[in-house]
Amino acid sequence: MTRIGFAYNQKPEQDAPLLDKATAHSGSVEDGELDRLDEEPPSKIDEYAEWDSIATIDAVANALSPLGEVIRLEADENFPELLRATNPDIVFNIAEGKNGVNREAHVPAICEFYGIPYSGSDPLTLSLCLDKARAKETLAYHGISTARFTVVRDASDLDRLVGALPFPLPLFAKPIHEGSSKGITEKNFCQTIDHLDEQVRFLLTTYQQPVIIEQYLPGAEFTCAVLGNGATARVLPIVGMNFASLPEGAVPIYGYEAKWIWDRPENPLEMFDCPAKIDANLASEIEHVTLDAYRILGCRDWSRIDVRLDAAGKPNIVEVNPLPGILPDPADNSCFPKAARAAGLSYDELIQSCLKLAAERQGVSLGRQLKKVRTASKSASRPRVTRSRKLDGPAATDSVTNRLTA
Ligand SMILES: Nc1ncnc2c1ncn2[C@@H]1O[C@H](COP(=O)(O)OP(=O)(O)OP(=O)(O)O)[C@@H](O)[C@H]1O
Ligand SMILES: [Mg+2]
Repeated sequence: MTRIGFAYNQKPEQDAPLLDKATAHSGSVEDGELDRLDEEPPSKIDEYAEWDSIATIDAVANALSPLGEVIRLEADENFPELLRATNPDIVFNIAEGKNGVNREAHVPAICEFYGIPYSGSDPLTLSLCLDKARAKETLAYHGISTARFTVVRDASDLDRLVGALPFPLPLFAKPIHEGSSKGITEKNFCQTIDHLDEQVRFLLTTYQQPVIIEQYLPGAEFTCAVLGNGATARVLPIVGMNFASLPEGAVPIYGYEAKWIWDRPENPLEMFDCPAKIDANLASEIEHVTLDAYRILGCRDWSRIDVRLDAAGKPNIVEVNPLPGILPDPADNSCFPKAARAAGLSYDELIQSCLKLAAERQGVSLGRQLKKVRTASKSASRPRVTRSRKLDGPAATDSVTNRLTA
């Protein structure tokens, strides 16, 4: 039987009650009034926004179980020893990581260190995509449309910037190394220099990292779930954002308030259309730029890519998420599972497709009935020589469209 290590970071239940949509009630949209998150600093509210709830972890483990024995490996300080001791045939990785700007790369790097195959992108891609500026530089070098930007590392950078803006207002500011809209509220939309100055100072202090300042993209927004590798990577039905569903007066962005406060299971925002209601030409342009970004940044198996139209209606890459959010409950409005459902893939089939892609790419056999791949004892210190392994590059595969029967 295949032994599937499952690497994740579990959200602390009590420390951050706002982070679970089922308990997120700090915001208020009564009478169209917006909660501006003034009372608690977002850095405390959203500290664990990227980590997964036990409901997601259980759902993923359950989805993986027909393909082998699932061994839960919480990606905490014990992870390296646990991985080494359990020595799985492959690791299914959704761990967002804890420390530093390379945190999303830690689990894949440790897997590589021990020679253990794993799902998803490699450490380089994960770190690159967690640096919004470096990722955009790479995209821009390859001629892929993305909003103009500059990076502010400290107060003196900011002073220089507000003295001579390199491009016109309005601008949009974001912490450079975050995801799940940590630090991205509607206040980051800057229409005046004074507001920009104040908000960027706030972000620098609160998140203790550089701030990327981008040209504001005023057009419609989409997010694209990509599944596959090489020539067979495909965009699942495009998810369109319906900003008209936000409370009156809200800035048309999919930021922290929309993701975690205004959209609640008991009162969901009608935030998404999937497939997006757009014409075939625009859909094809969006798919094209999305797949270009996926390949240029070296994504593997799956990723979710955000796209927004510029003033001329041209699709621009906003950012790339090689570890996509995968909340299992349809009421939670998680975009990757939503796109998968629109493509006819259940939640379990989505998770299994990702693992199958990773297994095929690396020559790992999956299943509950397989003979042991390795004949040697499970001694962790023994070199792993019996597994047949392909090179890690993107591989042609048609398993995305397969219905899994294991
Ligand atoms: N340049 C921009 N112009 C207009 N809106 C933007 C821009 N950059 C970001 N946004 C808005 O802010 C939202 C969050 O930004 P972004 O996707 O970069 O953050 P994130 O925290 O990494 O998101 P995710 O939850 O997808 O990980 C976007 O979905 C978009 O609505
Ligand atoms: Mg995003």
